[in-house]
Amino acid sequence: MTTTPESTSSFTPPNGVSVSGDSGVAPSTLLSLRGITKSFGAVEALKHVDLDIPAGQVTALIGDNGAGKSTLIKAIAGIYAPTSGDIFWEGRKVTLHTPRDAENLGIATVYQDLALCDNLDIVQNMYLGHEESRHFTLDEIKMELNTKRVLSELSVSTVQSVRQLVGSLSGGQRQAIAVARAVMHESKLVIMDEPTAALGVSQTAQVLDLIKRLASRGIAVLVISHNLVDVFEVADRIAVMYLGTLVSSGPAANYDTSSAVEIITTGGSRSDVAASAK
Ligand SMILES: Nc1ncnc2c1ncn2[C@@H]1O[C@H](COP(=O)(O)OP(=O)(O)OP(=O)(O)O)[C@@H](O)[C@H]1O
Ligand SMILES: [Mg+2]
Repeated sequence: MTTTPESTSSFTPPNGVSVSGDSGVAPSTLLSLRGITKSFGAVEALKHVDLDIPAGQVTALIGDNGAGKSTLIKAIAGIYAPTSGDIFWEGRKVTLHTPRDAENLGIATVYQDLALCDNLDIVQNMYLGHEESRHFTLDEIKMELNTKRVLSELSVSTVQSVRQLVGSLSGGQRQAIAVARAVMHESKLVIMDEPTAALGVSQTAQVLDLIKRLASRGIAVLVISHNLVDVFEVADRIAVMYLGTLVSSGPAANYDTSSAVEIITTGGSRSDVAASAK
């Protein structure tokens, strides 16, 4: 359950999240990064990254191996503390000390290994760490009904029974359960690192559909992908990283495959992209 307030006027920070000041960030922007830098000893993995993530849109984060994409999402997910820079959530500056702080704000991260338990069924995975209890016993009926409701709202129709062990699901179905779990706990931002990397054609299509449905429900989605076909299919916005620097960002319509590849590989923006996207 998120503790994020409906409006900034009644804002009370969740435990461990410090809040201060007025950022001047536009209210439609859910998450803003300003000057985020992260060093690992001599390696500067992130260099003064500025990025705005709007609600209800899919932002694709692209870049070559080692560009800093995973490090950036780990800073947003409360895993790495930035060396310097500020994170603004709904216009307020926040400091995320732990992944739980990010989760409390409504930030859900679906990692490639998914962190699902194979030996538990779908309902148990959906509620892991968030179990509903009634009269000191787990409310199995409520959990099962909620699981069915969320899966049907997301049009996840290929799963035969919510009492099926997650270990028996296909890669695409597992991805769908991980995403549904994030949605059920009222996330406002869902971050996905390479969600389709291990999937076949039809499973990829299902996951891309799911990503679009999340955005149409008003959720902000930040997705990392090396597959530009997938990126252009789902992204409303594109952000390109190169050697730790965010070198270009803007509406997906301002990019095409060749301009995206050029920016990914050289770090330079072609003038037509740079003019409208930066
Ligand atoms: N824990 C760490 N300690 C030291 N260096 C790290 C650490 N994590 C990342 N790095 C370095 O930071 C840089 C960015 O790594 P990151 O994992 O963010 O790249 P990426 O864009 O996600 O790449 P990929 O597409 O290969 O997943 C790399 O040079 C990497 O070696
Ligand atoms: Mg990575």
